[in-house]
This record gives sequence, C-alpha cells and structure tokens, in this order.
Amino acid sequence: MTWNRKDILDIESLRVDEITSILDTADGLKEISQRSIKKVPTLRGKTVVLFFYEPSTRTRVSFDIAAKRLSADAISISAATSSLVKGETLVDTARNLESMNPDVIVMRHSCAGTPYLLSRKIATPIINAGDGMHAHPTQALLDMMTVREHKKDLAGLQIAIVGDIAHSRVARSNIIGFTRMGACVRLSGPPTMIPKGVEALGADVTYDFDEAISGADVIMMLRIQKERQQRFLFPSEREYANRYGLSMKRLEKAKPDALIMHPGPLNRGVEITPEVADHINSVILCQVTNGVALRMALLYLVAGGMRNAADH
Ligand code: CP
Repeated sequence: MTWNRKDILDIESLRVDEITSILDTADGLKEISQRSIKKVPTLRGKTVVLFFYEPSTRTRVSFDIAAKRLSADAISISAATSSLVKGETLVDTARNLESMNPDVIVMRHSCAGTPYLLSRKIATPIINAGDGMHAHPTQALLDMMTVREHKKDLAGLQIAIVGDIAHSRVARSNIIGFTRMGACVRLSGPPTMIPKGVEALGADVTYDFDEAISGADVIMMLRIQKERQQRFLFPSEREYANRYGLSMKRLEKAKPDALIMHPGPLNRGVEITPEVADHINSVILCQVTNGVALRMALLYLVAGGMRNAADH
C-alpha cells in the first residue's frame, strides 16, 4: 500500500491495513540493527526534531537511534532547554521549528491532545510519543510487533493488561490496537485504578488478578503512575504487590508459554518480581529492541521514505 497519512497521533485513526503495513515495514527494517554498520541512506537529507516535554529513556533514545540508522539528522529539544521557559507558547515554538523545515516532529507532552493541536497548526508531520494519559501509539505498535513476532497472529489471542489502567496511555492504546487486530483484552487492577466505562473500548474487566491471567497468552504489567495520581489509590506498595504484583506463583495460572511484557520503566518488587521480569518468557527487552525498528518504520513512512524509494 502507499502511505498517505501525515501524522501518527493515536491508534484509533489507524486502519487494520495501515497497522499491518507499519508492522511489516518494521519487521523488514529490524535486521539493519543487527549489521556491523547499522546505517542505510533511506532518509539521507531528512531532519527529525525530537520535542520531549516529559522524561523518557526508551522512546526518545529509540527515535534518535531510528533516525540515525536511516541517515536522517535528529535534533533533540526539551522543555527546560527551549524558549518555553521564557514564556513562548507551545504553538509559537512549533511554528518556529516548522520554519526551519524539519521533515518530522516527534513529540511527547504531559497534556492530552497537544500533538493534535500542533498537527492542526503546522504542516510538518507529527508523531505522538505520548500525550498525558491519553495515547502512546508507538508503544502499542511495538507491543503488537513483539507479540506478532512470538505468536505469529494477533487474532484470537488473550491479552491481560494489569495495573494502573486509569493513568496509562499505554493501556488505552494497546486496548484499542489489540482489539482492532482481533485479540481479546482483559483488564485487571484495583478498582481505584480501573476507569469507569473502559469496557466501551472493547475490553473485559475483572478485579481478580488470577482470573485475568488464567489462560492468557500475553500478560502486560503496568507501573503505578504515581506522578499522575491526585490521591493515594491503594494502602501500601506491599499490599499492592501482594494483590496485583506478578510473582512466580501467580505466573503458574497463565499458559506455560505466556509472554510477559512491560512497557517500562518497571518497578521491580512492586508490579513485577525480579524473577518474573527476568523470566525466560519475558520479552521486556525484546519490546525495547523492536521499538527501534518500529520507530524506523514510522519515520520511513511519514518522512516519505516510500516516495524516495520510488523516485530512485
Ligand atoms: N515505555 C516508555 O514510553 O518508556 P519511556 O518513558 O522511557 O520512553
């Protein structure tokens, strides 16, 4: 298929054939990172701006590496080092960046909807690297890529997502992505961390952790997002770990070949024990590896790599 979409803002707006095309492209680009010289000229002459207003390790570094592996120039700016601290509005900052002719802006912001606002104000393609509690489409896509790599087909799989669903943009994007691709999603966590009406996204809810992971093909554990919580939502970390932490004993309830996933950063001993995080079924670091290939695919598609290939 030819790629016509300007921005990647969320999973909702992606059709099944677009998701499949992104995952296929990422699969094809993955081997570049195994080479001794990890660079191809595909996006030579293109410029990618990484505009991160919230902390990030995996997303920012993998976009930076992805751009460089495709020979694009990557420039990173953060809130603290930009003129936002001098009172410039976000839209003015984006318009000024646009005036320098970048080919893609990758942005993370603590306010939901910020990438949508900028996508209407500037013509440069925008990739949402996480907006508040709303969406993290590139994480969901790399999660789908990782599951597809291990289980071949997403349709019919049972995916359990456990933890602080209410504050998780990863959970929202994954619920929408996996259900769109034909998987069944079960959510679990303390009632205070499961938003009312979340079933409308197509997922089932159970507060019983054992029930959620029973027969699951994939168990995705989530960090408690204390930075987004307005009040205490559970009595103590120890009680949370006892009720909703994934331990070796709990893992016995899942299928023997169930994949263990976590978007990171993980808190060992809280939502997941160290033994489970490092278990043979854990694909947590595969998710990070695939994050580079997946982001290479998105930069390739959005920055016109397909058109470049056709031109040559
Ligand atoms: N999963 C994820 O978004 O990690 P970072 O916050 O480190 O980018």
